[in-house]
This record gives sequence, C-alpha cells and structure tokens, in this order.
Amino acid sequence: MSTATPKSRIENSRRGEPESASPSRVTGSSAAADLVRTLTLDEQLLLLSGQNFWQTQKIDRAGIEPVWLSDGTNGLRVAAGDGDNLGIGESIPSTCFPPASTLAASWNPPLLREVGAAVGEEAKALGVGVVLGPGLNLKRHPLGGRNFEYYSEDPLLSGILAAATVDGIQSTGTGACLKHFAMNNHERRRNTTNVIADERTTRELYLRGFQIAVTQSAPRMVMSAYNKIDGVYCSDDRRLLTDILRTEWGFDGAVVSDWGAEADRVRGIAAGLDLEMPGGLDRRRELRAALASGALLPADVAQSAARVLGLQDLARPSNLTAEAVKPLLEGHDSLARRAAAESTVVLTNDGILPLEPTTSIALIGAFAKHPRFQGGGSALVNAATVTNAFDALTEAGADISYAPGYDPADPTDDPALIADAVDIAAKAEVAVVMVGLPDIAETEGYDRATLALPPQHDALVTAVTRANPRTIVLVSSGAPVLMPWRSDPAAVLHTYLGGQASGAAIADVLLGIVEPAGRLPETFPASRDDVASDPWFPGADDQTQHREGIFVGYRHVTTAGITPQFPFGHGLGCGRTTWSNASVSAPQLTVAHAEVTVTVEVVNTGDRPTTEVVQIYAHDRSGAVLRPRRELVGFTRVLIQPGQREQVQTAIAAQALRFWDVRAHDWALPQGQVDLEVARSSEHIEAVLTLEIVDGVTDSAEQPSMAPIARTDSQFVTRLGHPMPRPDPVRPFTRNSTLGDFAQVPIGRLLQKTILSAAQKTADNPVALAMVREVTAELALRQIVLTSGGRMNWKILDVLIALGNRRPIQALARALR
Ligand code: BGC
Repeated sequence: MSTATPKSRIENSRRGEPESASPSRVTGSSAAADLVRTLTLDEQLLLLSGQNFWQTQKIDRAGIEPVWLSDGTNGLRVAAGDGDNLGIGESIPSTCFPPASTLAASWNPPLLREVGAAVGEEAKALGVGVVLGPGLNLKRHPLGGRNFEYYSEDPLLSGILAAATVDGIQSTGTGACLKHFAMNNHERRRNTTNVIADERTTRELYLRGFQIAVTQSAPRMVMSAYNKIDGVYCSDDRRLLTDILRTEWGFDGAVVSDWGAEADRVRGIAAGLDLEMPGGLDRRRELRAALASGALLPADVAQSAARVLGLQDLARPSNLTAEAVKPLLEGHDSLARRAAAESTVVLTNDGILPLEPTTSIALIGAFAKHPRFQGGGSALVNAATVTNAFDALTEAGADISYAPGYDPADPTDDPALIADAVDIAAKAEVAVVMVGLPDIAETEGYDRATLALPPQHDALVTAVTRANPRTIVLVSSGAPVLMPWRSDPAAVLHTYLGGQASGAAIADVLLGIVEPAGRLPETFPASRDDVASDPWFPGADDQTQHREGIFVGYRHVTTAGITPQFPFGHGLGCGRTTWSNASVSAPQLTVAHAEVTVTVEVVNTGDRPTTEVVQIYAHDRSGAVLRPRRELVGFTRVLIQPGQREQVQTAIAAQALRFWDVRAHDWALPQGQVDLEVARSSEHIEAVLTLEIVDGVTDSAEQPSMAPIARTDSQFVTRLGHPMPRPDPVRPFTRNSTLGDFAQVPIGRLLQKTILSAAQKTADNPVALAMVREVTAELALRQIVLTSGGRMNWKILDVLIALGNRRPIQALARALR
C-alpha cells in the first residue's frame, strides 16, 4: 500500500469500509444452541437477567458459569462492592488510560488497539469476561455530558476507532461491548427522552459509526441505550436490535441493556434484547405469564438464552484483588503516557515548542499538582498511580517555579492567586499555564451548562500572557471550550484529559521527547450559536428533536461558512512538511470499481521526525441530494523522518461517498462529480481532485430531507415524513415517569427523599453528590425496581404510582393483587 521507509509508519482508514455484514466469527453459538436445548424453560428464562449487578447467571446443574461484566471506556472499573454503576464507590486500582475523546485525537487506530488490548489484559487478570466499552455515541453538541467518553462528531472516525478498540480488547480473549445503541447523545432526561430524527440523519450520522464498528470488529456485545427513538425505548426496539443490528449488519453477539434501561421485558425479548442488567430481579413469573398468554414466544426465549450462553467462553474465575493486575501496571502506565502525549493537540505555536531542558519555567495552575485527567460516572477509574506535571518536569531536571492560580475544586475568582502567578511568570523565561474544566463539569448524569472555562482560568491566562508573552497554555477538558484569549499566548495546546500519566506526558511534550501529534476529532466552535443543534439541545419536555439533521459539527460550519475557533482535523504538531503532487488512481468510480486511491507526496522539511494526518474530504457536486459541503471519507496517519518524502496513499471506498436514500431506504451513490479534497484539516485544503461517479443515482428528485435545518415545525414534519409526535404528558404518572416529576406530589417527594438520602451516603465528594442528585431526579420510576437488586418490587411501586395519581381504589387493588 505504501512506499514507506522501514522507520515510517502509515495507518489509514481503509479498514473502516466496506460496511456490509462481516463473515460470521466463531462464538461457539452452535454449541450454545445445543446447550440451550438441554435447559428447562425456567432455566432459559433465568439466563435472560443477570445474577447480580455485574454477573450473568450461573446454573450449576448444567455447568453454566457466570460471566463478569465491568466498565469501562478508558480503563477498568471493577467495583469492590455490589451496585454502583455510577463510579461512586470503591473499585480495584487499575490503569486509567486517556478517555476516548483524547485517544480519538491521535487518529491512530493501532494506538487505540494497543490501549484496548491493555484494558483487555487487566480484565483477564481480574477474571472480567466483558469490558463495557467502547462508547461511540456521536457528539451532536459540545456540551454533551459524556462527550469525554466518546470519540468524535464524525461517524467514520468514530466507527474506525471503536473497531480498533474492540479488536484490541478482544485480541486478549476478553469481550468488548459497544455502547450506547443508539442516539444517546446527551445526558438530560436520558431515561425518558424520545429522540426524534429523520431516517437519513439517523442512518448517516448516528447509526453509521456503530455499523462500521460492528461490521469491522465483531464485538461480542452491544449495549442498548436508555432513551427512546421515535417513541420506542431502544431496549424494546426490534427494528434497531434485530432488523438493523443483526439482519442488516450481521451482528452475532448478545445485546445487553444499559443498567436499568429495559422498559418492557417481554417486548424487549421479542425485540432481541437478550440480557437484562443489572440482575437481581427474578423475572420468571412475569415471563411465564407472557409465554402463557402468547405475548412471548418460546423460540425468542431460547434464542436469547443461546446468545447469553454464547458468552460462556468468557466466564472466568474471578480474582478481584489489586494483586492480580499489579504485574501489568508498569507497562500500561508507559502506554498511557505515550498515548496521552501523542494525542495532545497543538492548537497554536509560534515556534516556542519544544522547550530546551534548561529553560526556566513558571509553572502556573493547580492542575499542575492536581491534574484533571478523567471524567466522572461509570467510566471513572480508580487510577493505579497518578503523575502530575510539576513532579514530572522537576524529575526531568527542569528549572521550575510554581503558583496555583486557582483552586482546582472551586475556581471562584481570586485576584490574589492571579497576582502570585503573574509575579513568577514575569521572572521566568517561559510561563506554562494549565487551565481547563473542573471535575464537576464533565460527568455522566448531566450535560455541561456552558462552553466557557471558569472565569478565573480565563483571567489567569490573560494576566500571565501579559506579564510574559512567552507563555504556553495547556487546556485540560474532555470536550471543546472557549478560549477568547487564544491568539495571545506563544502556544496553546489542548491536552484533552490525559489519564493517569497526564503529568509525565506533558513533560514529554514540552521537552520535545514526544511530538504532540493530535488532530481535533471535533470542531471547537467560537460560540454556541455556531452549533446547529443548539436551539434544540438538549431538548424540551421529553423530546430531543434533531432539527439540524445531518448538520453536526464540521458538516455544519463548512456548509454555513462559519469560522470556528479551531476546525475539525486541526492540529499543528511540531514539525514542518510540504504537500504536493496529489493524484487519484482513476478519474471515474463505478459500482464495479468501487474504490480509488488518493496519493499525496508529503516531505518532512524539518529537522525532527514528524507525524502528518492526511485527511480526505468529499464535496459532492452531483446535486442528487443536499449534502454537507465537506464529509470525511478517509484518512492516513504517517510518521516521516527528517528530509524524507512519502507517497501517502489513502483508499477511498465507494461506501464512504454514499448517502442514505430515503425513498429506497438504502445507501446510494450520487451520480456525477465529486471533488476529493486532500486536507490538513476541514478548513485547510491542500489539493482538490475530481472524481466522476458514473453509475450512481441519477434521479435528483427532492428527498424529504432537503431543508438544511428544519427551523419550523412544518419543515421538520416534512423531513420526518410523519406528524410530530406529542410529548408524553407528565400526568398521570406511570412506571416511565421520572422521580423528579413524581416528586410534584407528596408521596413522590417522600420517595425521592428516601432514595436520595440513601444514595448520597455513598457519595463522598462534590462531583459524586452532583451526579447523584441529577441521576436520582431523572430516574424513571421503573428503574427504582430494576436497579434495586430485588429490594423494591413492582407491587409497591405500582401502589405508590396509583396513590400519586390520587386513585386510592386502584392502589388498593394493586396492593391486593
Ligand atoms: C452507563 C453505562 C455503564 C453502566 C454500568 C450506566 O449508567 O450508562 O455506560 O456501562 O452504567 O456501569
């Protein structure tokens, strides 16, 4: 594929396509089908819910062992106690890798594979059979609370990186679980919200990453999301879990519910939701009744039980001790350090980087001693060890003075802290200022309120830069933030969240030991107004309306001609290259020759090795259908030695050029001219090549999704192709009402108070407390039973709901049932 010299490394996006069903992998499913036939119906039913919070059922008589499932996305969180899917309690120390948003900035699938394999190894050592990750929900809006856990605003990049992660985890014999399927793109009212999007948007943006990951990496599990899509809970959605996931994409593993996401267990089984988690709830009575009434078919039960049994090879004796992972930790810490350093994005650099080791540095910002290195919630890892930038730079022999500049937990304005920082900045050769979002801003359970950094952080950067123009700013956050001062410092680097070795990685980057080679996997907008989904984010009532359609991230700003703060794909690295002689292997693309290769010559004109990411965007000029101005269709990452010249090749498969044809309910190639833009970022195009698609779709009759952004109800309805669904009424209360809504009535308030005070006992810090409050208020009432491990039951809940609805007779009848 490449003419790379032995020392160069080239990785590209090719394996992300095609997206058809992969040949089926051996999962022991025929053995599972044989085994299921030896079980009684009751035993089959038992298998469909977990045994407890983290394990599947065991059946001694049949030699069926439990499989342990554990979070998470950037390292393992094996809870020491039972319960706790929110990362509040104790867990076994393990390696905290940089989260997905950070790793995505590497645009380096082999790196993600390596990290996945390391997480898989730790899982294996502990006896964990399935890692509950990666998460690859698309970043519809930069304020999504769990954006740090996800890869990108682009489905191709997300899908490829998720596939690499799954490959890595599964290379160790551990299972991976793609989550959260699907369209759980923010946190607000995630348990009850109804996501309303047109078919094309759903397919092209929100399902496509999953499609790529499923077909390219064959994950052992997929986790259904909490929300509804078009009025149907994902866990009950046959179209999603069976027609699309299995029949179209060829998924042959097991589907597990997100913890407490199951809405209607009977409907869920028929839909293809095999395993309900957490367990601890005996569903057999209810399921037997459904079988008797014909609402549930024995064949569906057997099929789901077989899929759960298909995970039997992942059942391992558990060894939940810190000792078990210890031998792996040192090597994994080095990997975490390299991953964080490589993924760091140079946003601006006037040439100040890298620093000479002897430079005197004023190191400013409490994050230098108390690093902000991961997000909160179920992904939270109890890091085996944490390095900070102060220690790492000191160890490297740098000449450091330090001032905190702000309180890391409570960044309220404090001019005295800024004055101290200015004082040391003025005396040093270089100032390095570390700012970013506090822990409380980024966690599962709620969305961010603002794109801005805490005002004290902004004021600190401005004051220090004024005192010393040779200032380097390092920003730590798992998602985009505003940097109103961005053109003042000598360099601005976005470190994302660097994981446990973030401090050492920062020292490596500043001192030139590792090139910060990251490219933004998402747009950094200049304001909320530049985010097309903003007026409908995160939604109102219990609806999430995707009125911006396919115009997410760079798809919007490139089409609307908006200049972002920093564009998708941007990252300067520390090297110098020239690009020339771009060419495409054939002028035409046909269904029969459904792939072309784009080549560009890249020369390293600097004096140190450097990494480039060649990005190829398509600009569809055919007019067959409204498309974003620019869409990523391939990329290649290459490491080039000084003075060397690389012919960098990127394969572009026809699949990447397709759109979703809502008349045919299928992918279609547009017939006509498509420009292939060879680019350093979505705003920095080096060359434009022309490609003719000769046998694509010619009929350019308007597709319903032609209106770019559906600002009016009628535009949205036209695009949806059906009337606007009404939001569910808050009353009467049902099992799907939220606890917060139920608290409008006295009995609901009492219930909320009881649950909150129990939950708060386990929350020992402000982030956990904030999360517990939000999560409790947004809990769907049914989830109180589903996550109670059997301590609460349907009868009591139904009585309370009837009382809340002021229906005493109904309450009595339910009590007597
Ligand atoms: C999260 C999942 C996680 C599960 C188990 C849920 O709250 O949404 O991502 O895997 O808990 O901890």
